[in-house]
Order: sequence, then structure tokens, then C-alpha cells
Amino acid sequence: MDILLLRLIHIGTGVFWVGAVFTFFFFVQPTGAALGPEAAKFSYHLLHHRRLGVVILGSAVTTVLAGILLLLITSNGLDPDVLFDTSRLGYTVGGLAAIVTLGIGALYVYPRTTIVERTLGQLLADKRPPTPDEQQTLARVAGESKRAGWLVIAGLVVAVASMATARYWGLFL
Ligand code: HEM
Repeated sequence: MDILLLRLIHIGTGVFWVGAVFTFFFFVQPTGAALGPEAAKFSYHLLHHRRLGVVILGSAVTTVLAGILLLLITSNGLDPDVLFDTSRLGYTVGGLAAIVTLGIGALYVYPRTTIVERTLGQLLADKRPPTPDEQQTLARVAGESKRAGWLVIAGLVVAVASMATARYWGLFL
């Protein structure tokens, strides 16, 4: 595939992935938590009807797949001499950070958003408040997602900072 098209896909979906995660983590989620039960309808619509979790995951997978293809093309098929040369090291470091971040998002955070979606769907369908068990589940999942969310934010900061500066690493290292 043309490298220009790959870069367009890679950077376009990467911008969405990072922007969506930051907006969700620092604005949408805290607003939902502050509004409590009043936010249930909004959160359910965002997750179930607008499929925000699936769309973020899709953009992350696309960014990483396009990045891996770019890495394969630009490093002569993952030649270590190229991967760890200071002129390309930033892409390798940023790529690894983004892959680990995708792992945390896909395997830890995403399953928890599906628990929230399922539980809120049940509550809205039954038009009732959460049972103590459901309340406990929602609080546990929110806490776990928040802690993992900080790791995701840190991973994305490393990935973006490395990718944005990679072409100049050779000048300083
Ligand atoms: C948060 C995720 C990511 C973002 C926001 C991102 C962003 C970017 C940006 C803005 C560029 C252009 C930089 C330049 O031209 O100097 C770039 C290039 C590149 N990215 Fe990423 N990237 C991400 C993840 C990844 C991953 C997971 C890999 C591979 C495993 C990867 C591999 C590459 C490579 C090899 C290039 C250089 C392509 C070339 O030389 O033409 N990226 N990325």
C-alpha cells in the first residue's frame, strides 16, 4: 500500500484515538460521575447507541496496525540495526508504548465499559435504581477503569511525544 495512504490512516486514526481518550477521561467521565444517577441515560446512549467504546477501540487497532506496517516498511522488515538507530529509535519507542497502551485498553478497560453498559441498560429498561450489588459493581468498575485510565494516558503521552519528535532524536542522542 502507498506509504502516503498508510501515514494518512495512521496519523488520522491516531489523532482520533488520543483525542477521544483524553476527552473521555478528563471531561466526559468526571461529568458522569458528578451527575450520578442523572447521567445514566446519557452514559448508556454514548456507550450503547453511539458505540463510543467500540469506536475508540477500532481507531486504536487501526492506528497500531498501520503503524506496524509503517515500521515494517521503514525498517527493512524490523531490522534491529534500523529499529535501534537513533534516527528511528523514537518510532520504535513510541510504537511499543502505543502497543502496550492498546493492550491495557482492549483487555482491561474495554471489558469494564461493557459491564457499565450492560448494567445501565438493565436499570433503564426496568426503570429502577441499582440494587446494592449493582451499585457495588458500578463503583468497583469505575475505580478500576480510572486507575487503568491513568496508565492509558501515560502510554499515549509517551507514544505521541516520541512519534512527534522521532525524526530529531538523531540530532540529540
Ligand atoms: C498513539 C498512537 C500513535 C500516534 C498518535 C502516532 C503518530 C504518528 C505521527 C504523528 C507520525 C508522523 C511523524 C513523522 O513524520 O516524523 C508517525 C509516524 C510513524 N509511526 Fe506512529 N503513532 C502512533 C502509534 C504507532 C505505532 C503503534 C507504531 C508501530 C508499532 C507506529 C509507527 C510509526 C512509524 C514507523 C512512523 C514513521 C513513518 C515514516 O517514516 O514515514 N506508530 N506516527
